[in-house]
Amino acid sequence: MNKVAVITGSSSGIGKAIAALLLNLNYKVFGVSKSPSVFNDKNFIWIQSDLTSENDLQRITQEIKEDSINVLINNAGTASEKEALAFTELEFRKIFDLNFKAPILLTQALKGRLSKGLIINISSVSDRLVGEFYALYCSSKAALNIYFDVVALEEKDMKIISILPSYVDTPLLRKLQENNKDFDWNLTMKPEQIAEFVGRVIDDNKDLSSGAKVIVVSDSLKEDLEYNENLWGYNTSTKQLSKL
Ligand SMILES: NC(=O)c1ccc[n+]([C@@H]2O[C@H](COP(=O)([O-])OP(=O)(O)OC[C@H]3O[C@@H](n4cnc5c(N)ncnc54)[C@H](OP(=O)(O)O)[C@@H]3O)[C@@H](O)[C@H]2O)c1
Repeated sequence: MNKVAVITGSSSGIGKAIAALLLNLNYKVFGVSKSPSVFNDKNFIWIQSDLTSENDLQRITQEIKEDSINVLINNAGTASEKEALAFTELEFRKIFDLNFKAPILLTQALKGRLSKGLIINISSVSDRLVGEFYALYCSSKAALNIYFDVVALEEKDMKIISILPSYVDTPLLRKLQENNKDFDWNLTMKPEQIAEFVGRVIDDNKDLSSGAKVIVVSDSLKEDLEYNENLWGYNTSTKQLSKL
């Protein structure tokens, strides 16, 4: 019997690389995306869906007939540039419905079949390293991570690990940087490098407890690991204010 994996965003970028890796590991892979995920492999089942549509979300769970799912990878995501105080309701929904709401609803819908299963969220280091014009993207990833911190506390029967990559050379990043002539593509990681790490986590995750978040960088991006939160503490008894 093949192990079973469900992955969203399997048609492109990081998700496509992870789906290919899972097929190599002999998983039966259900891949969710709007446009075709093309894998010449009998173990790949494409589910054409828009994850921002509640009807489509319901259909995904019906199309997966398996009683037990070993791995769910919430990977599909999007980003766009916009000033933090200039977005429209539609732009807000486009990003939050896909990056925040869809992983929650899909996990909720598949929960009964994820007993002893592993959930890997492809989040982003942008949950803490914020950038101008990316307020919606950064906050959607921060919200996702905090939400799943609580899921990890409540759901003892499944393990949740969030992966927070820095820059990865994908069609999404190519589109976001198309007008930035100064962007150094040599700095970026390849989708296959993220997939390789996902494979390692699937194979052995005993060092990572549920709720763990892993920032993924290459040598050229390692300063992202030196992130210092601008967090302070105030003690009402001593009236002391100090940087934590
Ligand atoms: N690239 C980076 O630098 C980077 C860094 C950190 C984190 N990430 C995260 O990595 C994940 C994958 O991003 P990527 O860079 O690989 O992007 P990508 O190449 O644009 O791939 C995104 C995938 O999501 C699918 N998708 C988009 N909207 C969808 C929808 N409404 N319903 C179903 N599927 C949908 C796309 O397929 P269809 O268009 O066919 O639907 C595609 O397969 C995202 O969560 C992103 O935030 C990326």
